Parts: sequence; structure tokens; C-alpha cells
Amino acid sequence: MEYRRLGKTDVYLPVIGFGTWEIGGRFTPDYSADEQAIKIIKLAVEKGITFIDTAEMYGAGHSEEIVGEAIKEFDREKTFIATKVWSSNLRYNDVLRALDGSLKRLKIEYVDLYQIHWPNPGIPLRETMKAMEKLVMEGKTRFIGVSNFCVRDMEEAMSYLSHTDIVSNQVLYNIIDRGIEDEILPFCKENDITVIAYRPLAKGLIAHEPYKSKLESIGKKYGKTAVQVALNWVLRHENVVAIPRTLNPQHLEEILGSIGWKMNREDYEELSRIV
Ligand SMILES: NC(=O)c1ccc[n+]([C@@H]2O[C@H](COP(=O)([O-])OP(=O)(O)OC[C@H]3O[C@@H](n4cnc5c(N)ncnc54)[C@H](OP(=O)(O)O)[C@@H]3O)[C@@H](O)[C@H]2O)c1
Repeated sequence: MEYRRLGKTDVYLPVIGFGTWEIGGRFTPDYSADEQAIKIIKLAVEKGITFIDTAEMYGAGHSEEIVGEAIKEFDREKTFIATKVWSSNLRYNDVLRALDGSLKRLKIEYVDLYQIHWPNPGIPLRETMKAMEKLVMEGKTRFIGVSNFCVRDMEEAMSYLSHTDIVSNQVLYNIIDRGIEDEILPFCKENDITVIAYRPLAKGLIAHEPYKSKLESIGKKYGKTAVQVALNWVLRHENVVAIPRTLNPQHLEEILGSIGWKMNREDYEELSRIV
């Protein structure tokens, strides 16, 4: 595994985390694949993917229950558990209550990273950030982050914090969806905010045409597959980590093969151009 510094902290995150959207259901709980999900998360942790990303919204809490079950036999300090508060729970007391619910479902005493899932213009951000900061003070989360925040949202959120920093922004980023490159990515670099790239495999699209053969045209030089090239391309920025999701052990192996090597600059540029 490779590690990258989380924000300005002294914590180093695995560059590949494990995403859990649709694990345990989408908007309602789905118990049908629990065993498979628990097994693959345990396997991921054993292989060094100790950073797991979930959310109270995923499967209406059931994703967190699955993560809790999967990590219970590992040393808590060796895992890095991130979850998110949903955008309708951003009032001060709702944020505090939401994290208590997540901790209960995860069966842990604290999370490593608590993230605001989406901004909600109907609720003052000051109120949300004060609650997030209180949770750090209480030791219920080690760090706070945001998700789907534009630069203006990040600046506003940062202005309300007096004792802590925003360590991360979790945003859509893959070789097809590159919207963060103009403003969000440079801002995060300048401010030492880690970018957690979500949907880094474009939901698996990159393993299919028309993307597959373009990615493979460069990948063959390095003996790498389309998925490995696409993930390596996302991770070429020093402040980016990625959270792909899979239920398939072979896919997990393939994902792990996307790190530990680099393409030359011309190939990264060529990929940016052709895909
Ligand atoms: N903050 C937010 O608003 C937000 C939004 C979306 C997602 N996220 C987070 O980001 C995580 C990742 O995003 P995502 O789950 O939407 O999409 P993703 O990771 O880009 O893609 C997941 C899909 O790719 C397939 N896949 C994985 N490895 C593969 C491989 N080696 N070859 C071919 N297909 C492969 C998976 O199928 P198999 O199971 O068959 O491998 C799955 O269908 C989420 O799980 C969630 O934690 C956050």
C-alpha cells in the first residue's frame, strides 16, 4: 500500500480506500448480500485497504452496520473509518444525533473522519460547522471533512472553524468526470486539503468500450489493465486518494495493481487527451 498525508494532520491514509455505496442497499436496507460484503471488506482490510468510507444514508444505515461487522475483529487503531452526515441532518442538534446513530451502527467509540455529505443551502453552514467542531472536541471524530463542496462552500466552512481544520473534500473524480480540475483541485492543493476521489472507476464504465481500448493502448506499455491505468491516472496528484468499490475479490486484486508504479508524464497527458 502507498500512503498520503491527510490534510495538515500527522495521519497517513492509504491511497486506496474502500467505497460502500450500494453495499447494504441504496436508499433502503438490503440484507441480501451481507455475507459477501462483510467478506470483501475484511479481505480489503487484510490487503492494506484499511480506510473504509460509508455514510448514514447508504442503505438507510445498513451499510454502516455491515462495515461495523466487518471491522470488529481488527484493531480499531489500524483502521480508518469515515462516514457522512446526510444533508437533511445539518442542524446543530441533528449533526450530534446523527453521529451517535452512526457510531452505534458501526459499533465503535469514534470515527476517524466525519464528513458533510452534501451542502444544504437551507441550513446555515455556521451551525453545522460548530456541531462538527464540537464532535472533534468530544472525541467522537478525529477529523472533519466535507463532500461535494465547491471552493466557495469550503471557504465559508473554514471561516467558521476556530480549533480544527477541514482535512478533506470528497468529490467526483475519474478520467471521464474531471470537473474538479479547474478550481476545486488547485484550491485543495494550496490549502493542504486531501481530495477523496469518489466514483474513481466511473461506476465501472472504464472497464468497457469506448474507454477500455483507449486506456489499454497506454496500459500495455506498463503491463496494466484499463482499470489500473484509470485509477493510477486519478492518483497522479499528490493530494488525492481514491475510494473504489467492489464486491468481487478478483476486481479487488486488480484495483490493488493500480498502485506502486507510475506512468511517464507524456502518457498521463496523452490519457487526459484521448479519454
Ligand atoms: N460523497 C458522495 O456524494 C459520493 C457519491 C458517490 C460515491 N461515493 C463513494 O465513492 C465510492 C465509489 O463510487 P461508486 O461506488 O459509485 O463507483 P466506482 O467505485 O467508480 O465503481 C464501482 C463499480 O465498478 C465495478 N468495478 C470495481 N472494480 C472493477 C474492476 N476491476 N473491473 C471492472 N469493474 C469493476 C464494481 O462492480 P463489482 O462489484 O462487480 O466489482 C462497481 O459496479 C462509493 O462506494 C462511495 O463510498 C460518494
